[in-house]
Amino acid sequence: EEFSGHIPTKLNGLDEALCGGIPFGVLTELVGPAGIGKTQFCLKMALLASLPVRYGGLNGRVIYIDAESKFSSRRMIEIGASSFPEIFNMQGMAREMAGRIVVLQPTSLSEFTESLQQIKVSLLQHEVKLLIIDSMAALISVEHGQQAPRQQSLGWHISFIKSLAEFSRVPVLVTNQVRSQHRDQAPQYSFQDSSNAGDLERADKYDSRLVAALGINWAHAVTIRLVLEAKSGQRYLKVAKSPLSPPLAFPFIITSSGISL
Ligand code: GTP
Repeated sequence: EEFSGHIPTKLNGLDEALCGGIPFGVLTELVGPAGIGKTQFCLKMALLASLPVRYGGLNGRVIYIDAESKFSSRRMIEIGASSFPEIFNMQGMAREMAGRIVVLQPTSLSEFTESLQQIKVSLLQHEVKLLIIDSMAALISVEHGQQAPRQQSLGWHISFIKSLAEFSRVPVLVTNQVRSQHRDQAPQYSFQDSSNAGDLERADKYDSRLVAALGINWAHAVTIRLVLEAKSGQRYLKVAKSPLSPPLAFPFIITSSGISL
């Protein structure tokens, strides 16, 4: 099949804003506080990439780096069964879909580094249509605890992931957790690195500690940044960075069929 250069999110306004969906060959980052719905978004995208083409999917395999043990094939199948009942009612389809998602759970940055070589081989076989990393911040924090990791090592990872996207033309979706704006909610990760504080102001008003951890290279490596946030009990998905779209915000809800606008 001939694919366009995007994987549609099936979120109407968002696909329009992004001129088709999550683009192939670049990094798309999903940022937001704990519990906002980043993993729910990833599960939906994994499902969409694995669905047969006649249902609007990419009929592909998905590599899902699950650094926080949050992947749930049961939840993914629930999202699939609610969104595409006609497919998921077919005998064996749920199992077939779940079998297309290769879930890796690295417990350290070095384990992740080792798996990157295998991922590269898989991407070269052209069956993988989506690479998800949920989350980059978790991979770094497991290795380094409260300390910011070495920028040099991170720079290597960032370049490698970006080049994986470029040479394979696969869309790469990476989540990152940021501290909630609300002071009453405790941060999950504590990143400290004052050495590049001067760069922080230039990084699209991004969570300063995440920038400190991932570095300015990360902010620049990402082509599209979607920010999930909650205000007065309503969740919003914002297009915060895109070469094609102006900044936009869409209210969303999470139901049995996953994220919907
Ligand atoms: P962290 O990984 O902690 O940074 O959070 P996250 O942004 O990945 O959050 P996640 O995607 O896990 O979203 C959690 C939210 O999704 C919950 O607060 C629920 O509102 C919603 N959610 C999770 N599972 C279900 C489900 O089975 N049904 C419904 N309707 N909502 C769910």
